[in-house]
Amino acid sequence: EMLEKGGFDHFMMKEIYEQPRSIRDCMRGRIYPQQGRVQLGGLKEYAEKLKNIDRIIIVACGTSWHAGLVGEYLIEEYGRVPVEVEYASEFRYRNPIISEKDLVIAISQSGETADTMAALELAKDKGATIFGICNVVGASIPRITDAGVYTHAGPEIGVASTKAFTAQVTVLTLIALYIAQIKGTVSQSKLITLLTELNEIPDLIEQALKHNEEIKTIAAKFKDARNFLFLGRGSAFPVALEGALKLKEISYIHAEGYPAAEMKHGPIALIDEEMPVVFIATKHSSYEKVISNIQEVKARRGQVIAIVTEGDTEVKKMADYVIEIPQTDEAFLPLLATIPLQLLAYHIALMRGCNVDQPRNLAKSVTVE
Ligand code: G6P
Repeated sequence: EMLEKGGFDHFMMKEIYEQPRSIRDCMRGRIYPQQGRVQLGGLKEYAEKLKNIDRIIIVACGTSWHAGLVGEYLIEEYGRVPVEVEYASEFRYRNPIISEKDLVIAISQSGETADTMAALELAKDKGATIFGICNVVGASIPRITDAGVYTHAGPEIGVASTKAFTAQVTVLTLIALYIAQIKGTVSQSKLITLLTELNEIPDLIEQALKHNEEIKTIAAKFKDARNFLFLGRGSAFPVALEGALKLKEISYIHAEGYPAAEMKHGPIALIDEEMPVVFIATKHSSYEKVISNIQEVKARRGQVIAIVTEGDTEVKKMADYVIEIPQTDEAFLPLLATIPLQLLAYHIALMRGCNVDQPRNLAKSVTVE
């Protein structure tokens, strides 16, 4: 078993460290940075459809739903198509309004989740075009979809999804840029810049992983916390949701993710000196706004752990702890900011004596309702 874990103590840690490679595998043959071109063989026949699409509906559950939310930000920003992201379990029972004009994309690591499968079948019955973003080749979802893109992250054993999530986000990034390329909503020179940077992401993840020891030290300080808040804005909001989910899944600490600006509509009431608040506070469009949210937490004596851009000085002055990630374009922030949150959850869970690979009550794949 030690061999299977590649020298790591747990599958989860092995899978976290595999991410530079799994993302490289996911992008292989799909991006041509020098030409500013994305090629998605699985979607080729649907290029014309994508060019004229009015609306995309993403259906998923759990971590895959969080990836869908990141996809919403990216596809709307670059492809300029309205996107709705739905919990498959809600969507299927709501008599949703779908027609032949719609594109429904299911995201599923296993390709077997019962609710996601049922949501797709419903969309298919109503005449929508259906795509899948799956990790397991030949699973039920890829078998019923019209087209799709595999994530190629390799087998994921840890129940808490890590490398499958970042691979899903990578695929959604590629789809967003592919639509942009087809529709011409992003200039060729901008596509070259973006794809060149995306190509560097595996190396930047490698660098982000180097902060593991510091993260372990921070984990030791907060391992006995009873609650945690995770806050971010823009595409860092779904990252906050995912950070909270990782922590609660494997450490059993109650954690909530929120859009940072929504804090004042509720979670702020929970803040006192006992409350750790994890901020994604990198140097991107909402940097200044996140800084004022950090000040609001500090004014109430909350404990701030901030994910910051390398070399940041401003947030460092305010936060109790900072974890650096390399500078990157805002488009790729979710791929980097997720890494320290995975490590934080892992170390806290381990220090609490939890079974990180097989948390209680959870299944890797939920094939029944
Ligand atoms: C379960 C797993 C999660 C996963 C979710 C959706 O809850 O424990 O890690 O995100 O199912 O699974 P899927 O295979 O459809 O991505």
